Amino acid sequence: MTTEQRCPVTRFDHHSPEHTRDHVAIYRKLREEAPVAWTEAHGGFWVLSDYDSVYEASRDDDTFSSARHDEYGGPGLAVTIPKAPTEFHIPIEIDPPGSASYRKLINKATAPKAAEKLQPKIKHYVTGIVDSFIEEGEADLAVVAALPAILVIDWLGLDPSEYQYYVDAMHTLVSAAPGTPEYQHAAEVAVPWVTKTVREHIRHRRENPADDVTTYFIEAEIDGRTMSDDEIYSILELVISGGVGTTASLVTQSLVWLYQNPDERAQLAENPSMIDVAMEEFLRVFSPTQALARTVMEDAEFHGCPVQKGDRALLSWASANRDPDQFTDPDEVDITRWPNRHIAFGVGVHRCAGLYIAKGIAREIFTQILSRAGDYVVDMDNLVTYPDQGTNAGYHSIPVTFTPGERLLGATPLFPTHYTKQ
Ligand code: HEM
Repeated sequence: MTTEQRCPVTRFDHHSPEHTRDHVAIYRKLREEAPVAWTEAHGGFWVLSDYDSVYEASRDDDTFSSARHDEYGGPGLAVTIPKAPTEFHIPIEIDPPGSASYRKLINKATAPKAAEKLQPKIKHYVTGIVDSFIEEGEADLAVVAALPAILVIDWLGLDPSEYQYYVDAMHTLVSAAPGTPEYQHAAEVAVPWVTKTVREHIRHRRENPADDVTTYFIEAEIDGRTMSDDEIYSILELVISGGVGTTASLVTQSLVWLYQNPDERAQLAENPSMIDVAMEEFLRVFSPTQALARTVMEDAEFHGCPVQKGDRALLSWASANRDPDQFTDPDEVDITRWPNRHIAFGVGVHRCAGLYIAKGIAREIFTQILSRAGDYVVDMDNLVTYPDQGTNAGYHSIPVTFTPGERLLGATPLFPTHYTKQ
């Protein structure tokens, strides 16, 4: 099928500078004019931008497959456009029913109870990171973006003091534009470092079990057998790439918004019990994972458009979350909005497996920043946004000043840092 035969055709590229500048306006226009549209960017793909089409495609795994199909769109991670150079990810790159047994195992490790068990650790690390700048009265608040990485790495039994290497790899792949030097560095140097380190860790844990999630996966049985190193690696790499950047994106965007909206900031500082409902609204409007992809598996008419076997499709959770047919005043941030049927964690069988952990981390960060450095003033002229907002949106740097406070964990840093950029 030629471009001319596709309907309707739009100019859309979620990795373009225009998109980074104002993706909210770009998605609004798309929703209004062509909620399902074809674009020629990155080899051509459908972009789905209203709630109904994103919701429907996410639940129709037979037509919109998450599985890796190297024959369509080339090799690489099936759920990004363009495909990211990562290894096979379980279970996100397996369609049902094959994904279900893996997902059952992962759910056990990430269920509300398991996330609750992590809470003391979350509190410890958040306290330590806030301690690292609280006496100074000035900081780069984006330092809190390290916390999801530290926690996920520690939870897997890897060395948390090496968190920055994982950020360099997995966070860069979703916050730098494909083809830029940062992206190339992540793909060629940082990701191979993660692969080597995590694979060695799995081998080491087979001989030296410990109380961590890697050991849990090594010992767990799936359909009456244990998993191979390759399968475990596929799960761990997904958990690292899914966990490291997303929660960072949520908290950095929310903290900047709270500075710009002092009444809401004061409300949350005075009533921490309001944080959970506010967090759902932050998830809706900031949609940390903006959009992910699928591959079309059969010719079909979808919302009036002729999708064809092998076509790629981008599902924009971010745009769906601002659809006026679903949310009243969708561009207003209402920290008391309830119910809030946002789909920032996705929909269907691949809905985020780490959402309780993500919320636990974000809740603790909001609580501590608001109670310990709650009068922070952001230097808005020197904010640094991610150079690419197509997959994850957020800030790399948030310079702030605030009234200094006291350390709570004593003078010893959380762990020695021996980071040198590779
Ligand atoms: C605010 C933070 C987060 C957001 C917005 C987010 C968003 C998402 C989204 C949209 C999906 C669906 C992908 C799809 O349908 O293609 C997903 C899947 C997933 N997420 Fe998250 N995520 C977050 C945090 C985390 C954390 C902290 C972890 C791990 C500890 C995690 C692990 C996963 C995994 C393993 C999947 C794949 C599930 C499957 O394929 O069955 N996520 N996430």
